[in-house]
Amino acid sequence: MIYLDHAATTPVREEVREEMAGPLREVFGNPSSTHSAGRAARALVDLARDRVAEALSCRPREVVFTGGGSEADNLALRGPLSRLRGEPGHLVVSQVEHEAVLETARDLRRDGWELTELEVDSEGRVDPGRLLRALRPDTRLVSVMLANNEVGTVEPVAELAQVVREHSSSLFHTDATQALGKIPLDVAELGVDLLTISAHKVGGPKGVGALFVRHGVTLDPVITGGGQERNRRSGTENVPGIVGLGLAALLAERERGAEAARQRELTSHLEELLLELIPDARPTGARGENRLPNFCTLAIPGAEGELLLMRLDRSGVCASAGSACASGSQAPSHVLLAMGLPPALAGAHLRLTLGRGTTRAEVEEAAEIVGREVVQLRQTAAV
Ligand SMILES: Cc1ncc(COP(=O)(O)O)c(C=O)c1O
Repeated sequence: MIYLDHAATTPVREEVREEMAGPLREVFGNPSSTHSAGRAARALVDLARDRVAEALSCRPREVVFTGGGSEADNLALRGPLSRLRGEPGHLVVSQVEHEAVLETARDLRRDGWELTELEVDSEGRVDPGRLLRALRPDTRLVSVMLANNEVGTVEPVAELAQVVREHSSSLFHTDATQALGKIPLDVAELGVDLLTISAHKVGGPKGVGALFVRHGVTLDPVITGGGQERNRRSGTENVPGIVGLGLAALLAERERGAEAARQRELTSHLEELLLELIPDARPTGARGENRLPNFCTLAIPGAEGELLLMRLDRSGVCASAGSACASGSQAPSHVLLAMGLPPALAGAHLRLTLGRGTTRAEVEEAAEIVGREVVQLRQTAAV
C-alpha cells in the first residue's frame, strides 16, 4: 500500500506509541487525585504541556488540551463569544475554513451573531485588504486557518492578524491543524490570540488536540464539569492521548526544517511526473512557498473523483478527493467552489499528501499508477 493521505491522518510514530505505553500500563492515576498515583499522572500531563508549549513557542499555561482539532476550534469560537452573552456582535471567518470552524460560525449565527464569510482568490488565499473592509466596531472574533486542508494553501495569517490588531479589538484565531510540523508556528510571530492543533496529523493519536489561548484571553468552557484545564475544558484528562500529543508535536516541530524540505522536493517531483502523464491536469491551490510542502492537488478533467479514488485504492494507492473529514459527502467541496473552480472540475479533484514515511520510490510508483488509472477511467467514461 502506498499511503498518500497524510492530510487525513498519519500513522502513530513508534516513539509516540512507546511513550503512550506508560500511561496505558502503569501510570493510570487521575491527574486530579492528590495521592502518588494521581501525582504521577499529573507529572505526565505537565510534561506534555511543556512540550506543546515548546512546539508553539508559548507558555505552558496557555495550552488547553482538548478532544481533538474540531473541539479546539469549537472552544476557540464559542468560548470567547459565550462570555459576551447578551451583547452579540460580528464574527468573521474565511470561506475555506474546515467545517469545525465554518459550521460552528454558522451555528453562532443562528444564536444571533452576525457572520461574514470572507471570499478568497483563485489560490484560496484571503486578502488582508478584504479583511480590513469586513471589520466592524463590534467585530469580536476573526478566524482564518493557517493552512488549508484540501489544497494546502498557506494563508497570510501574520498579516491578517496585524490588520485585526491595528484596526479592531477583535480576537484572532487560526486553525493550524495542517500547518504543525510543516511551516513555522510561533504564536508571537503570528500574532494570534488562539491557535488550534491536533495530534493525529503529526504522528500522534486521534481524539486529542490543543488550543493555544493567549494569556489574558478569557473564554467560557464548552465542556463544563469538574473544571479541569483551569476551568477551560472539563473532564478527566486523556493522559495517554495528551502524552502522545506532547511528544508528537515536539518531534514534528524539531524535525520540521529537514522534513519539510525533503517533502517539498518529493512533492514537486510527484507533481512534475503527474503533469507529464496527464498534461491537461490543473494544479489547484497556491504555488511555491504559499503551499504546504506535502500537498499535491490536481483537478483532472473527466476523472470523476470518487471513481478515481476507488481505482487507486484497488491498485494500492490511498488518496483523497479533498477533505476526509466530511466523510460520505458527495457534494462538491466548498473550498474548491470558493476558489472559483467550476463544479465539474471540483468533482474531479485529487489530493495526494505526503508524510514522514513517504519515499521517492513510492512517489514514482504512485505517479505511474495515477497516470494509468486516469487513462483507463477516461476510456471507460468515453464508451
Ligand atoms: C484544518 C483542520 N481543522 C480541523 C480538523 C479536525 O481535527 P480533528 O480530526 O482532530 O477533530 C482537521 C482534520 O481533521 C483539519 O484538517
